[in-house]
Amino acid sequence: MGRASPFILVLLSLGCFFVTYNLLTMVIHYQSAEGDQELISGGSSTHLDDSKRLSEPKRLFHVALTATDAVYSKWQCRVMYYWYKKMKDMEGSEMGGFTRVLHSGHPDNLMEEIPTFVVDPLPEGRDQGYIVLNRPWAFVQWLKKATIEEDYILMAEPDHIFVNPLPNLAHGSDPAGFPFFYIKPSENEKIVRKFFPEDKGPLTAIDPIGNSPVIIQKSQLEKIAPIWMKVSLQMKDDPETDKAFGWVLEMYAYAIASALHGVRHILRKDFMIQPPWDLKVGKTFIIHYTYGCDYSLEGKLTYGKIGEWRFDKRSYLRNAPPRNLSLPPPGVPESVVTLVKMVNEATANIHGWEDGR
Ligand SMILES: *[C@@H]1O[C@H](CO)[C@@H](O)[C@H](O)[C@H]1NC(C)=O
Repeated sequence: MGRASPFILVLLSLGCFFVTYNLLTMVIHYQSAEGDQELISGGSSTHLDDSKRLSEPKRLFHVALTATDAVYSKWQCRVMYYWYKKMKDMEGSEMGGFTRVLHSGHPDNLMEEIPTFVVDPLPEGRDQGYIVLNRPWAFVQWLKKATIEEDYILMAEPDHIFVNPLPNLAHGSDPAGFPFFYIKPSENEKIVRKFFPEDKGPLTAIDPIGNSPVIIQKSQLEKIAPIWMKVSLQMKDDPETDKAFGWVLEMYAYAIASALHGVRHILRKDFMIQPPWDLKVGKTFIIHYTYGCDYSLEGKLTYGKIGEWRFDKRSYLRNAPPRNLSLPPPGVPESVVTLVKMVNEATANIHGWEDGR
């Protein structure tokens, strides 16, 4: 091997510098696209952005939780509100006020415990037994009648637990939503086109989301909510659509209503995790416990088959879960362990939990 001339060495290091520089910029761009959490926790290369971002005024969002007065909805709301209060003032949070939008038409026994705004349900029978059809109507009424200080709204659900302080993931008039793998507008062309005709744009203009979790400007939601309501009622009244979409009908209705307004969402996979499918909490923000978690005592997932150890919200349709649920056996993923621990912490600390409201 001959000695490399100094000229070549200089060229080489310059080349390396540019490669590193480009890589770094790519990483920084990628992190910016990933959003605030990455910036806040990023390395020294993003330090400038950190301090800039941290010194900016907070962009608070109001947490709006649609709920009914059923015991099943109530205990979930109590757990949800407990974790909201714990996360709200932690660093990185841009959580503002909280409202349980109660769409059963009259006050219930949680009015003192949780800030609540009572709205009317749909007229008797209009939901055809599909209770979530009340959600868009609840938002329409709440946005119209309530005084909401924040410029942004988080649409949340009772089975959400804040597992980290949540920043405002929206950017200006670009709302943020969670991409659901089963919302596939392009694969349901015939149905979707009934509500999103071709002159409105390609099917890819419809985001693969539901209304929750979504963080969106209040002014945008005020425009979208009435159309969301209209589309969801039309869908429910159309037997073919009702059959095709089933329990995700109201999610499609929101996705389409926002697309009709030309609104695109920033898709944030880290918005929430859904045990037992997602295994780690990491830097995500919400645990959504909609799926049952069934395991053998060896810690093996037995999904669809009742496990020797289980946590399933549907076990508590008529009664709130007792305090101090047993923790999962060894080998069960962190997401599930965290979920049960968080439910236990909430129930241990909520005054009067055992009255089973
Ligand atoms: C919770 O249950 C465990 C057994 O599963 C028990 O050892 C523990 O003392 C209980 N804690 C409280 C606070 O009741």
